Amino acid sequence: MADGGSAKRGEVSGSADTAPDLDRLLGDLKALEALPAQWDEAARSGAQALVAAVDALNAEAFRRLIRHLRDVPGSGPALREAATDEVVYTVLRRHGILKPSLFERVETALETVRPMLASHGGDAEVVSVEGDSAEIRFLGACDGCPASQLTFYAGVKKAIQEHVPEITTIRQARGLGGGGADTVKFTSPFANYKDDEWRHAARLAELEDGETRFVEVDGHSVILSRFGDRVSAFRNACAHMGLELTGGEISKSDSSGAVITCPWHGFRYALDSGECLTAPEVQLQPHGVRVKGQNIEIRIVT
Ligand code: FES
Repeated sequence: MADGGSAKRGEVSGSADTAPDLDRLLGDLKALEALPAQWDEAARSGAQALVAAVDALNAEAFRRLIRHLRDVPGSGPALREAATDEVVYTVLRRHGILKPSLFERVETALETVRPMLASHGGDAEVVSVEGDSAEIRFLGACDGCPASQLTFYAGVKKAIQEHVPEITTIRQARGLGGGGADTVKFTSPFANYKDDEWRHAARLAELEDGETRFVEVDGHSVILSRFGDRVSAFRNACAHMGLELTGGEISKSDSSGAVITCPWHGFRYALDSGECLTAPEVQLQPHGVRVKGQNIEIRIVT
């Protein structure tokens, strides 16, 4: 086989100055990948076989190279450092030499629920993955559909827990930007309703971080909680027998902000998601909630 260049065997060539432009290379690859679609079957099969053979040769070379380097005392940190280079990582991943990172696996899990989220006009992105925790930002909303937060949480959490069982804590990303009185800074998932359906519930400044209070909105008793700049609102009715949760003990929770215990028979609920921790098949009924300027507004879901 030809050596494909002027470098002698054993001589390392190339430097940062002569490195090809990565964006251009990726662009070329994308364009080339599309070409075989226009070819006949024989040409397409030949091209695929050639790519597979070159890939297999490269993969074997990388494996041997890594095996050799591993035998060099003290090379571990250098190899790990090299693997953080995005090009090295991408190529080694392509050849199956590196396993997907937790971040990628969480991203893969989200891919499985994106069609469901998209059908509600929503989406989600991975903000961070650290240790056994993942932070997810929910994007968009479902126009006019009062789909429950249970669907959302159950879908996203279930997908992540199935694909990445090492992740045991899944949080929703918090943090609102600035903005004027008319700026909507937070909208609960699937709560993008018409403007005239929103009702004032409280001033944001009145509700301290971590606080839960019971408010009346349009004759409905609502459980309102604030965690950072995120606000949740649920019908004040236990999923067990529909009795009010007013007076239930509220305790702080690392994973869900706070947990309320029904004063009647002890069902426990995460106050950020409404999930029932006692009977996971039920949950609190969520209302749409948004923070507009300094006002918390609720869209009652009956
Ligand atoms: S009504 Fe809440 S646990 Fe029974």
